[in-house]
Amino acid sequence: MQYTRRDALKVGLFGSAALALPLQRAASGLSVLDDRMPSSNLPKPFTLPLRLPPVAVPVATHDGEDCYRIAIKETRLEILPGFRTTVWAYDGTVPGPTIIARQGRRAKVRFINQLPLRHPTLKYTPWTSVHLHGSASLPSDDGYASDITYPGEYKDYRYPNFQHARTLWYHDHGVHHTAENVNMGQAAQYHMYDAHERSLPLPQGAYDVPLTISDRMFTKTGEFLFDTNDNSGMYGDVILVNGVPWPVMKVQRRKYRFRILNGSVSRAYEYSLSTGDPFTVIATDGGLMPYPQTVTRMRHIMAERYEVVIDFARYRPGTRIVLQNRNPKNNIAYPNIDKIMAFDVTDEPFSSANNEIPAALDPDCPVMNLQPSQSVKTRRIELRRQHGLWTVNGHTWDDVVASGFTLTEAKPVRDTVEIWELVNGSGGWQHPLHIHLIDFKLLDRNGRPPFAYERGPKDVVYLGENETVRVIARFEGVGKYMIHCHNLVHEDHDMMSQFEVVDPNAPGEDPLGRRARNGSFEPDDPL
Ligand code: C2O
Ligand code: CU
Repeated sequence: MQYTRRDALKVGLFGSAALALPLQRAASGLSVLDDRMPSSNLPKPFTLPLRLPPVAVPVATHDGEDCYRIAIKETRLEILPGFRTTVWAYDGTVPGPTIIARQGRRAKVRFINQLPLRHPTLKYTPWTSVHLHGSASLPSDDGYASDITYPGEYKDYRYPNFQHARTLWYHDHGVHHTAENVNMGQAAQYHMYDAHERSLPLPQGAYDVPLTISDRMFTKTGEFLFDTNDNSGMYGDVILVNGVPWPVMKVQRRKYRFRILNGSVSRAYEYSLSTGDPFTVIATDGGLMPYPQTVTRMRHIMAERYEVVIDFARYRPGTRIVLQNRNPKNNIAYPNIDKIMAFDVTDEPFSSANNEIPAALDPDCPVMNLQPSQSVKTRRIELRRQHGLWTVNGHTWDDVVASGFTLTEAKPVRDTVEIWELVNGSGGWQHPLHIHLIDFKLLDRNGRPPFAYERGPKDVVYLGENETVRVIARFEGVGKYMIHCHNLVHEDHDMMSQFEVVDPNAPGEDPLGRRARNGSFEPDDPL
């Protein structure tokens, strides 16, 4: 493999320069928060209708493959009534277009970086890398942080879509600027369905609703404001659901399935309904749970996906039910941070098809049937803060870069089962730990059973203060994949490392082996 000088600049020197920026700003004594939009100018909760993101339309379909073309571009959207906000987003929408994939049918997406060369206030160069979170993609298609696409370049990502039906999402993963890029709008859902999931009587179609929850802060002129509180996290004072501040949704008197993604940069939530009534979790990050789980509250940390069924049949028309947030510890609170959105029950006639939750959803789910006795190795991954940087077992992504991308935290052998002990040894902050490539099952949390709503296939886990979670997984695939904190501010500074699944008979693909191409060479043909 050859590295050009330009590659070295991309992944090394620029990265270090980026790390130095927050310090310079701190030294200047200015606070970006001085420019924050006053609360009195923010919309009142539950005054704006919920919107759904657009659904992506393929530009071409070949045998067994759907091809998409998505520009990462600047647009100005009305998010706060009466203001225009500059976003840098997938096809210019926040969230980006939802991609719908069928199991067994591959997808290819050309992501074209059409962003300006510099951010007007943050001054960084918005290189991008796109990760399809929840997909067992090949290493060069996985959005490896240092596999960056500059403004003016594009890259084709290939998605295998062989896993079980699930809610995935795609978002930026560009080294050291993921938090800024996602704050500018680069996040979207991706739904994969399969025959088993479609055969169940669960809510479908108009009753299967994506909800991407994220928080933002705005300047007085309505632009996104970005502040990391000394690299601890970005906490907004406005809750967006599908890009709408505290929306309200009209619902019929039946069951709805909500695909809830916490797409926030740093904010964790704890949900409950204002009625105190229970709701039912049917799927986690990796798809359907073996059995549905009914709860009255649940925590939801960044990047986790939970599919939740709420039954509105028990409410009289005219009832308003609020999805509330009991602000978990270590998240900065603002007025109305305790509210997410509202549901207004109507007396509209409705279809009663697909209005059930079966008693068993996917009892044969392979990862959920893994047993500790199958594990050939136990490893420990500890998240901590060291010398002002966030680290994984004491390592940062800059260490991975400096090693020529050879440093790894673990080398599991392909197709074997391992137990990983994930440790947040400190008080003061929580970390969502994400392991690429695999789905895992939680064995326990601080020696106790996992929460009911976590009893499904997962790829990211809430590590609260002083929590240790043991997970078990089979390492199918081969090559280098990232492991990191999904508080994107932590990830950028620099709580990210990698592991390598090894196969004695087959080397893994080089994650940097298929680089972005210059946009001026973009052929006219649709991929
Ligand atoms: Cu959702 Cu490594 O990311
Ligand atoms: Cu973290």
